[in-house]
Order: sequence, then structure tokens, then C-alpha cells
Amino acid sequence: MAEGSSILAIDQGTTSTRAILFSAEGQRLGLAQKELPQHFPQSGWVEHDVEDIWRDTLAVCKDAVADAGKTMGDVAVIGITNQRETTVIWDRATGEAIHKAIVWQDRRTSEFCQDLRATGAEALVRERTGLLLDPYFSGTKISWLLDKVPGARERAERGELAFGTIDCFLLWRLTGGRVHATDATNAARTLIFDIKRQVWDKELLELLRIPESLLPEVRDSDAEFGTTETALLGAALPVGGIAGDQQAATVGQACFEAGMMKSTYGTGCFALFNTGSDLVYSQNRLLSTVAYRLGGKTTYALEGSIFVAGAAVQWLRDGLGVIGSAEETEALAKQADTGQRIYLVPAFTGLGAPYWDADARGAIFGLTRASGPAELARATLEAVCYQTRDLLEAMRADGASGLETLRVDGGMVANDWMLQMLADILGVAVERPQVAETTALGAAYLAGLNRGLFQNLEAVAAQWQCNARFEPQMAEADREERYSGWRDAVGRVSSSA
Ligand code: G3P
Repeated sequence: MAEGSSILAIDQGTTSTRAILFSAEGQRLGLAQKELPQHFPQSGWVEHDVEDIWRDTLAVCKDAVADAGKTMGDVAVIGITNQRETTVIWDRATGEAIHKAIVWQDRRTSEFCQDLRATGAEALVRERTGLLLDPYFSGTKISWLLDKVPGARERAERGELAFGTIDCFLLWRLTGGRVHATDATNAARTLIFDIKRQVWDKELLELLRIPESLLPEVRDSDAEFGTTETALLGAALPVGGIAGDQQAATVGQACFEAGMMKSTYGTGCFALFNTGSDLVYSQNRLLSTVAYRLGGKTTYALEGSIFVAGAAVQWLRDGLGVIGSAEETEALAKQADTGQRIYLVPAFTGLGAPYWDADARGAIFGLTRASGPAELARATLEAVCYQTRDLLEAMRADGASGLETLRVDGGMVANDWMLQMLADILGVAVERPQVAETTALGAAYLAGLNRGLFQNLEAVAAQWQCNARFEPQMAEADREERYSGWRDAVGRVSSSA
């Protein structure tokens, strides 16, 4: 059994697989990362090869420990965090996936969702799961796999197959097929889990024609999840924490009080507002979700999910070629002609919360002959801020009053200009934490709680340190005038606005 004192966090994300070794004080000791190949077999389809994910996971675990100058014997416990909703079905006997994983961004079940909506099923889905009938979530992806992979439905009915999100698949493999389990935050993203009663929902399983035999056991986010096979990592290590990446970031940001909110800026942007033990149903097309479940007690959150944030900066670099690197946007935004009011609506794959318009497409408004890369860079960063304001407005309309500070993390928050603009557009202070790897840190905290390396959430919260705080400086009238220009721009690309 492991006797070390450090915590190994696996962060399996959409575009990369990382592992970070943390000390029990939350300090980063070592890190390793591998880019994950993306597969786009058809327009709107996104898949991952789970063998890439598996191979990379083992490699980054070993490399992160080596990077820290440690051995596996120094690891006390493993925590896993993951891209959510991405769906894998595998053979219980061989551990082989029956198909590539269908990624959360994949829109192939759009029509199926529309058909289900037409039957009036969305009310039931919302009441049970806190979600909407959108292809984003796992449920319709499971149905697609069972219907389209030859023989899959019959094999599932015979109990030969297992379903899991990426955490669950990795846990199965790490434990040599001995544990088929997930945590409540990941289960909450499947469209078949009752987040109030914390059980798989029989009515929804029937609606989506999913056999119950496929499903993993749902445990607390800091539960015992079994022990890794010695041959895989060179030691038998306990897995003591699992959470979806946005929920792990909420833990890493120590947003433990009702009324606290974090927003993570990666490919997309995901804002979670802690609502405590209250399951709040949004009247404004936000999602209700599980923030974490510890000791059998569920803490809920309202979530706003935006599909394009950092991805818009990538588009400036790789699509338009107007910047050489994402970092350049900060200097460019500062140079931009402030007299030009340009709005860039990055609805490249439709719009997420609060509009949920899969058919909307991107647009740029207000271009003049004098508009160049600097103005485009500024408009792209501003779009991220305006979209966050959309989420905040929806949360306020749902009764989330009194928010004074937003804790931010993710790759984009190295950009000071963007964070100042964010504070200005929100009219709320923005805080960046000392430890930037908040998602992995959250998984480490959950695993550390499991092993007693932290006594309780207060001990975790005591570790949170602010790196920089951005106060709103923009005049109220200016802020509102700019924001109303954004609303007008969104209204031109989507009838849902
Ligand atoms: O819901 C999708 C989200 O969990 C993906 O996060 O950071 O892997 O893009 P990320």
C-alpha cells in the first residue's frame, strides 16, 4: 500500500492529457503533458481514440513523477479529473472500446434531441437531471452507439458491455477491470442521472433505450475508487478522488460557500456558481449540476457553458493567421484603436448558454478600412468577457445576487488585459489564484481529503492564495452601452437572443 505524501492528479482534457504531482501543501512538484489527437470523421462530429488516452495517461503519470525527481513510492493517492460528457462503451471481458469515444462537442445527435424535444420530454429531463435536451450530454451519444455499432445493443442487453465517461474508463483500466465506478459530478452530465435522488433514472433510461446493465456505480467525489494494478505504474496506488474538470476547478478554486463563483477559460468557458445544498432550477437556460458530493452530501451549482473562448484566439492564429501566438493578443489589444467598436460573435459551433442555438454561426460587426489584427484581437478577447457577462446576467436573473468576486482560471487568464476588461464588463472584481492548474489541483484536493491529507474543506480553502485582483474601473454608462452593443450583435446571429 502507498506510503508517500504527495498526490498524483490525472487531468484528461479535450485537447491534452496531463498529470501533475502535488505536495500535501498544494505545491506543484512535477508535470507532464501530451497533446491528444482529434478525429473529425464528419462535419460536426468529434471523436477521441481511447487507446491514445490510455497510453498517454500512463506515460504522463510516470513522467510527472520523474519530473518531480520522485518515485511512485512517494505517491500517497491518485485523483482523476476529466473532460466531461465524452462517452465510451467497452467490452467488459476485453476492456476494448467498441467505437472511438464520442466527444462532448460532437453534434451528431442533434436531430435525435430535436425529436425528443418534440415529444415534450425536455421538462422531465430538466426536472431529473438539471440539463437540457442537447447533444452535448452523454445520454443520446450512448443511444447512438447502441444503435449504430453492429451488435452493440444485443451485447449490452446480455450485460457484456460497460459505459463510462473518461474518468470511469480510466478507472476501469487502472484497476485492471475490477472497478466500474464514477463520481456524482460526472454522472450528473450523462442525461440519465437523477441529481436530486442521486440515482440512475429508470424513466430516462427507458426514454433513451439504455440498458441499466451498462452503468457504473456512482460514488462520492472523494470516495475509495480501488487500487491500481501494480504492473501499470510500478506500484499499487489508491484512487481517492474523481470529479469532472469544471467541478474539480470549483474545488481547486475553493468555491465552497453558496454564492461563490469560478469561471475557467480554456477551449470554452465554464462558469459554476455554488448554490449550496439547494438544487436551483434555472429559468434562464443555465444548467443545474452537482458541484461535488462529499460524505454523501451533495452540493449543487448553476452552470453556464460557453463553447468558444480560447478557441476563438486559436482561430485568429490558425484560421486567419493574424497572430503568431495566443500571448500576442494582450499587446495587440492594448494597441487597438479604441475609437472602433467591433463586435466578434464566435458562434462557430452555435451558441451555448444562455442561448442554446445550435444553428447560429459567427459574425464580425463594425469593421472599417482601418480595422486590423489589433482590433480583431481586442474584439476576440472582449467577446469572452461579454459572454461571461451573459452568464452572470442569467445567474442574477435566477436569483444569484450579491456576487462580488469572480475567481478565474485556465490558459487565458495569464492575459492581464483580458482580466481587466472582464472586471470592467462584469462590474465585479476578478481574482486569479496563485496556482494556475486549478483543475488538477481540485482532483488532488479530493484525493487528499480521501486519505486524510486534508481534514476538511476549511483546510483546503486555507491554501487558496490570490495572485492578482482586478477591480472594475469602467464607468457604469460606458459598460452598459458596450454590453447593449454586444446583445444587439448576438441578436443578429441568433433568434434565441
Ligand atoms: O463539458 C466539457 C468540459 O468538461 C471540457 O473541458 O477543459 O477539457 O475543454 P476541457
